[in-house]
Amino acid sequence: MNLYEKASAAADFLRERIPTIPQIAVVLGSGLGGFATQLENSVAIPFAEVPYFPKPTAPGHSGRILCGSCGKTPVAVMQGRVHAYEGYSPEEVSFPVRVLGRLGVKTLILTNAAGGIRMDLQQGQLVLISDHINFPQLNPVAGPNDERLGPRFFDMTEAYSGRLRKLAQAAAQHEGFMLEEGVYLNVLGPSFETPAEIRAFRGMGADLVGMSTVMETIAARHMDIEVLGISCVTNMAAGIQAEPLNHEEVLATGRQVEEQLGRLLTRIVQALQEQ
Ligand code: 6GU
Repeated sequence: MNLYEKASAAADFLRERIPTIPQIAVVLGSGLGGFATQLENSVAIPFAEVPYFPKPTAPGHSGRILCGSCGKTPVAVMQGRVHAYEGYSPEEVSFPVRVLGRLGVKTLILTNAAGGIRMDLQQGQLVLISDHINFPQLNPVAGPNDERLGPRFFDMTEAYSGRLRKLAQAAAQHEGFMLEEGVYLNVLGPSFETPAEIRAFRGMGADLVGMSTVMETIAARHMDIEVLGISCVTNMAAGIQAEPLNHEEVLATGRQVEEQLGRLLTRIVQALQEQ
């Protein structure tokens, strides 16, 4: 079976088990799983049960897909994801996005934990991703192209929808806070960066650094799904903060911001419904 057939089979599997077909999907990053509790009448399906789905191995990623409603809107929530550093290929990392696309999702909200590179960013801040730098130059669309998924060549000028960023800004304002915007650079990981790497990335124009999201955005844009990216600055990057970096800090900051992010996502979904 090729990618299109596998993604379609997985989407068919989900369609038979979920109450309503989602048009919006949210991927929740490290320590950021809280929004899932806002879903009503939800059905939870472990990744392990979905045909061809990759299985997460990272701590803090429980690995299930929830389908339910947020207000009146049917939403799919991926609680957890897989990463390239777990040994998965770009195609495997973006497989869940392929499935969501085949399910009929038109809007994808990707969240992640990230290190802050830009000096004015602060631990615990939510930042809208304005653009990305695919530093490893891995690409989920490399290889034979299946036109049923998308075109061979496609534009990435506005990979992170300006329209959705405006909508997210308005939602944040209603919640009483401002969202900074920044450029997200992905690394393969799992090692955090060295201070010299962070200085180099800053010179390249990166504001945030992380280990996810970019493969998913590329696959989504290939399928013409509109993408919104939200990073939680769980810590400042190496050489900026005095303390060494660790995953516990990433999860702990994520948990502190989880509730605020949940409220923001609820408002964004509501605004998408009303448009
Ligand atoms: Cl500093 N680097 C990377 N690659 N990922 C992160 C991070 C840093 N902080 C949270 N996630």
